[in-house]
Amino acid sequence: MVKIAVMVSGGGTNLQALIDAERRGELKNGELSAVISSNADAYALKRANRAFIPSYVLCRRDYASTDAYGAALAEMLGQLGIGLVVLAGFMTVLPPDFCRRFEGRIINIHPSLIPSFCGPGFYGLRVHEAALTKGVKVTGATVHFVSEVVDGGAIILQKAVEILPGDTPERLQKRVMQEAEWKLLPRAVSLFCEGKLQISGGTVRILD
Ligand code: GAR
Repeated sequence: MVKIAVMVSGGGTNLQALIDAERRGELKNGELSAVISSNADAYALKRANRAFIPSYVLCRRDYASTDAYGAALAEMLGQLGIGLVVLAGFMTVLPPDFCRRFEGRIINIHPSLIPSFCGPGFYGLRVHEAALTKGVKVTGATVHFVSEVVDGGAIILQKAVEILPGDTPERLQKRVMQEAEWKLLPRAVSLFCEGKLQISGGTVRILD
């Protein structure tokens, strides 16, 4: 079994999608073992408690530097025996040292079709605001491995979502979550835990 830590900062609907998938037996060879929040008030912590998943709070502002934060996080993950780190709406950028140490073992969900609307400054509702401002007709979500480059790691899964007349950032965010994020993330986690993701030359091959 791969022990999974889910890192969160807010509402935690993607965490909930993982909890529901685990209950349905859809996280093959994976076990949700810890939830780590960068924010003590995150609603995601309540979801973790309701599902009896041990939860921890680690705030960036309690550490002198991003590197010190990354070191504390790495220490905690090591002690818990975590084999996969899932960033599910985690809003703190992780330091390069941490990303290198856990290379190939951290995945992130991003609410656009990378390489559109991603990188520094593109998170949460801002991503959907940017997509509507640009006037794109299709957006979506991406699950990718995390590298030192923000939103730049190898892409695992993507799903397109149509933009509809009258969309607001909030409506679009909800539809992207429902139609793409909550499906893609559990699938990618399960594929990882089953050993079906192979990275080579910066791209991911899904093994049958
Ligand atoms: C999700 O839409 C996720 O894709 C996004 O934040 C939201 C968190 O919602 N993540 C990013 O923008 C990361 N760059 P949730 O807390 O309800 O899962």
